[in-house]
Amino acid sequence: MRRRRRRRASALQVLVRTGYVLSALLLGNPQPTHPNLAAQAAAPAREGEYLGGEACLHCHDIRDAFAKNPHYKNWAEEKLAWSERGCEPCHGPGSEHGHSGGDPKKILNPRTAGPARINDTCLTCHQQQEERAHYLRSSHGLNAVACTTCHTIHTPRIKPSLLAARPPALCYTCHEEVRADFNQPFRHKVNEGWMSCTDCHNPHGGFAPHETRESTGPEAVCFDCHADKQGPFVFEHLPVRVEGCGICHDVHGSTNPRMLKRSEIRFLCLECHADTPGVFGPTTPLFHDITQARWQHCTDCHVNIHGSQVSRVFFE
Ligand code: HEC
Ligand code: HEC
Ligand code: HEC
Ligand code: HEC
Ligand code: HEC
Ligand code: HEC
Ligand code: HEC
Ligand code: HEC
Ligand code: HEC
Ligand code: HEC
Repeated sequence: MRRRRRRRASALQVLVRTGYVLSALLLGNPQPTHPNLAAQAAAPAREGEYLGGEACLHCHDIRDAFAKNPHYKNWAEEKLAWSERGCEPCHGPGSEHGHSGGDPKKILNPRTAGPARINDTCLTCHQQQEERAHYLRSSHGLNAVACTTCHTIHTPRIKPSLLAARPPALCYTCHEEVRADFNQPFRHKVNEGWMSCTDCHNPHGGFAPHETRESTGPEAVCFDCHADKQGPFVFEHLPVRVEGCGICHDVHGSTNPRMLKRSEIRFLCLECHADTPGVFGPTTPLFHDITQARWQHCTDCHVNIHGSQVSRVFFE
């Protein structure tokens, strides 16, 4: 009995302490030092009623601009949930802000809100889209990259998709090291605008490693454009199937022709075939005499190196 009462007392103490912290936060006097509390303190209060979009437009003169925003759909189409909320699905209930004559602390401004808050807000609607369903598990989501670092809702520089910039420039703001890949002599022509980072990557993430599009295998994304490599082949070259294209190619770009990982094809082959009987290795006499130039250009004879319907050794 005694012990239980003691416990209750301490629970009460906790409540009192929390109450103290909360009121301290609301009154804004002692600055909280714990980082989480500091974050809470920085977040604007959001309590209150929904006013509806018309009320916001009384003071914010953006009716014409907003009517062109794809998000106007939410508002204009009564069938859609949230339609009566206008600006507030993103900015939260605005009555306190409105009634205070526009106190900026009483409204959620995504420009200053934390990434978790922003992503949750946007995902209330966009999580249902397959492309974005796994955002919170993606590299970007896990690393606290906010939707609004790539998308600017009111003043997009790139109108389609409301982007802050067009890839690859957008991506290079954080992935500067990748720029060098696409300046290599042999490369996918991303910097030239022939294709986009987003042809191969879904910036919102998925189940494939490195946020590549589609998830049925490491190379699935390549077959969109290189369908001839897809097979199935009667005679598969095992590494193409098992390890994927990246075992032989640097997929962004390379100093070597065909974007290969090695400067000469034979070096690439011999990394795996050095011990294949007859090619190179302990068995003598060697069938392939690779000290002679004729035998060095492996793909002169083994032409269909990605797989073949007719030849066990990938001849023509
Ligand atoms: C009574 C007029 C009034 C109404 C109604 C009003 N606002 Fe404001 N709002 C203002 C003023 C004034 C500011 C600028 C405050 C400043 O910069 O100091 C502002 C600022 C803001 C900001 C920026 C806050 C920041 O952090 O700087 C947002 C976001 C905002 N309003 C959204 C809304 C939304 C959404 C609604 C409708 C729910 C709304 N406002 C209704 C007057 C109003
Ligand atoms: C789809 C979500 C969304 C909707 C709907 C929306 N906003 Fe915003 N708003 C944002 C984001 C995100 C920002 C941060 C700046 C940016 O990305 O453009 C912002 C910023 C603002 C700002 C502050 C601008 C600044 O420079 O800090 C004001 C004011 C504002 N919005 C008013 C409104 C009003 C009024 C409406 C309704 C007519 C509205 N917003 C509807 C997402 C939205
Ligand atoms: C209330 C639901 C809702 C919320 C919240 C919301 N969106 Fe949207 N969003 C929509 C709808 C509806 C469309 C229009 C889809 C269409 O045209 O079919 C849209 C379209 C978009 C588009 C595509 C624009 C285009 O060019 O077609 C982007 C990008 C986008 N939203 C980003 C965001 C971001 C970032 C946030 C958070 C700041 C956000 N949305 C919050 C409902 C929402
Ligand atoms: C790293 C940058 C980045 C982040 C972070 C990001 N997006 Fe995107 N988003 C893009 C790009 C780039 C596109 C254009 C897609 C394409 O080219 O295939 C896009 C497309 C979209 C579209 C479709 C637009 C259309 O035209 O159909 C929506 C909706 C969208 N994003 C919402 C979101 C939401 C919601 C979040 C946060 C949960 C988010 N995005 C986070 C870069 C980003
Ligand atoms: C031709 C398809 C393709 C294009 C285009 C592409 N990527 Fe990649 N990217 C990949 C693949 C596949 C991987 C995984 C690499 C591996 O397994 O060797 C990858 C890996 C990455 C990685 C992680 C590993 C690393 O190399 O740092 C980043 C970051 C990346 N890409 C960013 C980008 C950016 C930014 C762009 C546009 C400038 C881009 N990618 C364009 C296919 C592509
Ligand atoms: C605001 C900064 C930022 C922007 C802009 C950005 N990224 Fe990222 N990206 C990150 C961070 C942080 C990570 C996680 C850490 C890492 O792997 O580097 C990441 C991870 C990735 C990965 C996974 C890397 C891996 O090794 O698995 C890919 C792929 C990627 N980003 C592609 C893109 C593409 C494509 C764009 C442009 C549409 C883009 N990013 C824009 C910050 C950004
Ligand atoms: C959006 C289409 C597209 C996708 C997706 C794509 N590629 Fe490419 N790829 C191309 C184009 C176009 C070229 C030719 C570029 C040129 O001529 O400069 C090319 C060239 C290549 C080359 C060099 C060919 C040569 O003759 O030098 C290799 C190797 C390659 N791609 C591998 C891949 C791999 C591996 C993937 C998957 C990670 C992939 N590609 C995804 C379009 C694509
Ligand atoms: C075992 C190593 C290896 C793997 C794995 C591999 N490639 Fe290749 N690939 C090569 C070699 C070697 C060449 C150069 C052939 C030549 O020049 O005769 C080449 C050339 C290419 C070319 C340009 C010439 C052509 O045939 O069109 C493309 C495109 C290509 N590969 C795409 C891919 C794709 C897509 C994948 C994954 C499905 C892949 N490669 C997997 C070794 C490989
Ligand atoms: C990443 C390792 C790897 C690379 C690189 C590689 N191979 Fe292979 N290759 C294999 C494996 C594994 C097999 C299947 C061996 C088996 O079934 O015993 C194979 C099978 C073959 C076969 C059929 C032989 C048979 O017995 O079925 C030929 C021919 C061949 N490779 C030629 C090449 C050539 C030419 C290159 C260089 C362009 C090359 N390989 C690069 C791993 C590789
Ligand atoms: C002049 C044509 C030619 C060149 C060049 C050539 N090969 Fe071959 N390769 C053959 C022939 C012929 C066979 C045997 C085919 C058979 O058994 O039907 C063969 C068989 C193979 C096999 C399968 C061995 C087995 O029986 O399991 C491998 C692996 C192989 N070559 C790798 C290479 C590599 C690696 C290079 C480059 C260093 C290369 N070849 C260059 C003609 C060539």
